[in-house]
Amino acid sequence: MRGIGWAILYQDPENGKLINQWINEHDVGHPAGCNPLLVLDVFEHAFMIDYGLKRADYIAAFFKNIKWEAVEARLK
Ligand SMILES: [Fe+2]
Repeated sequence: MRGIGWAILYQDPENGKLINQWINEHDVGHPAGCNPLLVLDVFEHAFMIDYGLKRADYIAAFFKNIKWEAVEARLK
């Protein structure tokens, strides 16, 4: 998938289903009415200082450090 933006896990409150969505603008592409449960920032500023061009290492570290109890607490 193309590089910059956010990968967001949403929950649709109408049916409870989970949706993974890639967003690259603050104001475009968010599924209407859905609640974000988990957001991975994949803009360069989020990882360049610590990881340089090693984006995959940043993403691996992100997943390793997710506090799933907090994500679960956002489910409705
Ligand atoms: Fe950011």
